[in-house]
Amino acid sequence: MDLIEDRMGNQWGWWGDPEVVATAGVVTGSHLDSVPDGGAFDGPLGVVSALLAIDQLRSDGFTPRRPIAIVNFVDEEGARFGISCLGSRVITGALSPDKARDLRDAEGVTLAEAMRGVGRQPEHLGPDPESLGRIGSFIELHIEQGRALIDLGQAVGVGNRLWAHGRWRIEIPGEANHAGTTRLSDRRDAMIGCARAVLAARVAAETHGSLATVGKISIQPGGVNAIARSATAWLDARASGETALRSTVAQIEEEVASLDAVVTEESWTPQTAFDDALVNRLANLLDGAPVMSSGAGHDAGILANAGVPAAMIFVRNPTGVSHSPAEWADPEDCYAGAAALATVLAEFAGAAQ
Ligand code: HGY
Ligand code: MN
Ligand code: MN
Repeated sequence: MDLIEDRMGNQWGWWGDPEVVATAGVVTGSHLDSVPDGGAFDGPLGVVSALLAIDQLRSDGFTPRRPIAIVNFVDEEGARFGISCLGSRVITGALSPDKARDLRDAEGVTLAEAMRGVGRQPEHLGPDPESLGRIGSFIELHIEQGRALIDLGQAVGVGNRLWAHGRWRIEIPGEANHAGTTRLSDRRDAMIGCARAVLAARVAAETHGSLATVGKISIQPGGVNAIARSATAWLDARASGETALRSTVAQIEEEVASLDAVVTEESWTPQTAFDDALVNRLANLLDGAPVMSSGAGHDAGILANAGVPAAMIFVRNPTGVSHSPAEWADPEDCYAGAAALATVLAEFAGAAQ
């Protein structure tokens, strides 16, 4: 496939010349990055299934009338620079170039420095209408990160809605002091504040029927016998509706206000509705595959919110477990997903005469 790398380093492999029939490309793909100690399917299943689908079409002697592409979006999990769907947010303009360039990883390395370190030009990153303009429709195949398909007894489903979700950084001040000599009444212990923030997230989620998680904290100075002078907790919160999500975060902010905590919104993704005509066309093509929403965020959602006709195909996950080495999909379900994708690509691209 002809490999094009866009201004953010996202990789697009094209079968057929995307310039020939502008805005008509049929694009699939996903991401190859992972959360720390994640599973083997979240992301890679979408890229590998796309390669398998194209292998299948080629071995069937199929030649597409419209160009077909596989895309690999960079840093979808935001595990290094903290913003999920970094690659798709930058090219759609959902994240400003300056804000992107200044993002820092845990060692303090900026995105710009990291890109330069691998021979890319961070001064060029930014909205990429040229790459987006080549997409007629984007269909992302992804392992389901839930139990809907196993409960329905179906191998493949069609995604039509993504929950609203966001990430907030909660910085809690304290006073460094000696663990063995400071009276309890004299302490200003940032770790206690951090614990209150973590528990407040759970209470707020229970109150508003949402999901809120603190999976990452940073404690300074981090000595066993030193009272924490500062704590940072990163909140991941999600809900099927934006009102419930905003109420969840507001309740947590209220709880930590008395700690003089600073709460900063790092990313926000609105509730996403995929293109209904595209969703219905996929469901019909895939023998009435169930249509389902997802609490996970995806690059397809970022593209949809930028006006690109997008939808998703989910592959059954027998336990629903994800963001864990235990994540699994049975081979026959993986092949069913790749076969479904081959059917969709052939139908959308049409056969050359
Ligand atoms: O976090 C998510 O929802 C996705 O896995 N990036
Ligand atoms: Mn993920
Ligand atoms: Mn993913």
